[in-house]
Amino acid sequence: MNKLAVIGTGYVGLVTGICLASCGHHVTCMDVDESKIDQISRGDLPLFEPGLQELHETCTAAGSLSYTTSPEEAVQDAEAVFIAVGTPPRKDGSADLSYLHAAVHDIAPFIQRNTVLIIKSTVPAGTHADIKDQLDRTTGQSVQVVSNPEFLREGSAVNDFFYGDRIVIGSTDPRAAAFVEHIYESLPAPVLHTDPQTAEMIKYSSNAFLAAKISFINEMASLCEAEGADITIVAAGMGMDKRIGESFLRAGIGYGGSCFPKDTAALLYSAQQKKLPVPLLSSIHEVNRKQPGAFIQKILDRFGSIEGKKAAVLGLTFKPNTDDLRQSPSRDVINLLTSEGAMVIGYDPLISKSRKRIWQIPLAETMEEALTGADLAVICTEWKEIVDFPPDRYPSLMKEANIFDGRNCYAIKQALHLPIYYSSVGRPVYKGL
Ligand code: UDX
Repeated sequence: MNKLAVIGTGYVGLVTGICLASCGHHVTCMDVDESKIDQISRGDLPLFEPGLQELHETCTAAGSLSYTTSPEEAVQDAEAVFIAVGTPPRKDGSADLSYLHAAVHDIAPFIQRNTVLIIKSTVPAGTHADIKDQLDRTTGQSVQVVSNPEFLREGSAVNDFFYGDRIVIGSTDPRAAAFVEHIYESLPAPVLHTDPQTAEMIKYSSNAFLAAKISFINEMASLCEAEGADITIVAAGMGMDKRIGESFLRAGIGYGGSCFPKDTAALLYSAQQKKLPVPLLSSIHEVNRKQPGAFIQKILDRFGSIEGKKAAVLGLTFKPNTDDLRQSPSRDVINLLTSEGAMVIGYDPLISKSRKRIWQIPLAETMEEALTGADLAVICTEWKEIVDFPPDRYPSLMKEANIFDGRNCYAIKQALHLPIYYSSVGRPVYKGL
């Protein structure tokens, strides 16, 4: 059991802190945002992540997890301090490291000899060295700074923490590296030891590669549409080749969220700063940016004009099982529909529970309510409730069952014989109307 501090209670910090406490460590999570710490201390987590609330309750009840706004309280006798603050994108695509430097500034006075600083935040290669300089200068000692990137997917972050594919530890000091490995010793994931800049690059390269898989399959989906082929079967056939792998080949309206758009932009920015041509990297984002527009074009091709038509947008979060709306493609879809004059109503299994309006549009309380009297339905997130919704209910609720499925939720076979028009991504259109 080690005494650990986690700085930043955003998505990564909170999941990391709670899961480390569940591993048997004594963890103090710290955030400068008082209202957030108050909320968490009342037992109400500020984000939805399956399984997290239960772990938080167990660990706080056991006394192994606490929260504070005081850097001193969190850091003074911690053996390791994880930094998990946000590194949001600046307008030019670069990662804004001001929260990271501010956090390091706040904790520096309380860092003890031998305290290891572990960077969890996603940072450009080389950042660890700047942080070490900052710490060494302010503390007057040589602080060990280790890069230990996270690979947690929203919606399955708890599972990813306990059963991750790898733990990457980037350090130039074997003792610090061994200590970080010891913190994770109860987890089965293989450990990769490397230097800090390589660890930082592993995180960016992994996210850029996953984003590239998605943009690639989306480009293939456009070709499938032109050829009358089915992208889901193409992806299954490709995935049977172990060198390719079946994951991240789901075609759709594009990737969103707080990681892929930001991390590909930051990597691109770093390459541009170093005057390195990276045409492949620039295309990933370009393909993704065009997905919502290309999808709306299918709607316009069907209707000519959607002025005054009622459009039900189903699913708003950037993926299922999260309440995260950041960079969600649904927002682009809604903006485009609205700019074409459609009357848009939204529904999301999680967001509709707490809000009545979002991005200037009203939200329905149920999927049925959103669909009632609609001229078209646009699916933006593959929530289970939406996937499980029987396709034969669309014609009974809608004025005319025009379904535009941006996440390929239904098998085309399900649509056969139904009076619906069903257009999805990279698959033949079913014209039952
Ligand atoms: C991602 C990485 O997976 C994770 O390792 C990293 O640490 C944080 O960023 P996350 O953003 O939570 O995780 O979600 P992910 O499941 O990777 O999906 C990202 C986006 O890609 C979603 O909008 C999703 O809908 C989309 N996606 C994913 C596809 O469009 N097709 C796919 O095949 C897979």
